[in-house]
Amino acid sequence: MSLKKILVFCLVLMVTVVMTGCGGSQQSSSDSGSASADKKGVKIGVSMPTKSLQRWNQDGANMEKKLKDKGYDVDLQFAENKVEAQVSQIENMITKGCKVIIVGAIDGGSLSSVLDEAKSAGIKVISYDRLIMNTDAVNYYATFDNYGVGKIQGQYIEKQLGLTEGKGPFNLEIATGPLDDNNVVFFFKGAMDVLQPYIDKGQLIVKSGQVTREQCATPNWDEAKAQERMDNVLTTNYTSAKVDAVLCSNDSVSLGVQSALKSAGYNTSEKPMPVVTGQDANLPNVKAILAGEQSMSVFKDTRALADQVVKMVDALMNNQEPEVNDTKSYNNGAKVVPAYLLQPQFVDKTNYKQLLIDSGYYKEADVQK
Ligand code: BGC
Repeated sequence: MSLKKILVFCLVLMVTVVMTGCGGSQQSSSDSGSASADKKGVKIGVSMPTKSLQRWNQDGANMEKKLKDKGYDVDLQFAENKVEAQVSQIENMITKGCKVIIVGAIDGGSLSSVLDEAKSAGIKVISYDRLIMNTDAVNYYATFDNYGVGKIQGQYIEKQLGLTEGKGPFNLEIATGPLDDNNVVFFFKGAMDVLQPYIDKGQLIVKSGQVTREQCATPNWDEAKAQERMDNVLTTNYTSAKVDAVLCSNDSVSLGVQSALKSAGYNTSEKPMPVVTGQDANLPNVKAILAGEQSMSVFKDTRALADQVVKMVDALMNNQEPEVNDTKSYNNGAKVVPAYLLQPQFVDKTNYKQLLIDSGYYKEADVQK
């Protein structure tokens, strides 16, 4: 071999080694999923429904922090419960080149066309807490076991009233969430699967006669609207009778119901508060639990949900399949969306310290009035 040929051979060999080396190191650093440097400049969009409810602020802040810790750039937006605002915020995220968009939908049925744009741009979409409906542009869903939330609320009422021991009849009223939040279908079904048999047996009586999801809806989960409806239910049906339990699907609805009950004379020694449920363990509600005005809430640790979503993002960015544990429950009308469901837990006076304080979710001073 001539010297020239040897030199050319060496050059080719060096180039090959350098290129393979680069490919290899890129592969391994992205595989590790933790090297911040890799994520620099990779934008992730987070679109939350509203700032007006504590939980979405926490959800947004948790995800922003956890994604930034991993090295991602985060575009976090809140849409003040306005569908048009959420659509235009998502459009901006697409234009800005977000690689993954995480959406807590205001109205799960109104995002099909904007998410089709995302899909065409190769962007992955994660449905956060609420399922996005009627589009195949949603790739994954991370939420709590929403049917389980309703079941926990129903079982709490069942236990407090002694329904399994045959006690009754008791008066029950029901206040749930909006018809455009798919979670409500699950919350309502979970609770009614426990309570309906007692209504059928006459151990529970719903004097207002309002027992369907439509009749018991609260538009936008709005506290004032829940209060207004419960004011009407109480003045029309409970002038002489007393209500023994109110199934409230979440904490904002629960606060509205509690205000209506108090204006109707409840929360005194002659007329104590009925069993009142909730969901989210928001601060005003934990205070109400400690004051004996609300019986329980359902604790959904938003830190754990944010962790799960960050894991999903990392997997997607590393061309891996995100972990899911449910591939059959959440049909959005276009496909069954692979989901990761976290477990909700009831919280009341007896266990709030362990669940909320010892876990660092709140400080004891925060929950005292
Ligand atoms: C969430 C609840 C929340 C409600 C109101 C639901 O979709 O799952 O946690 O209380 O929306 O924001």
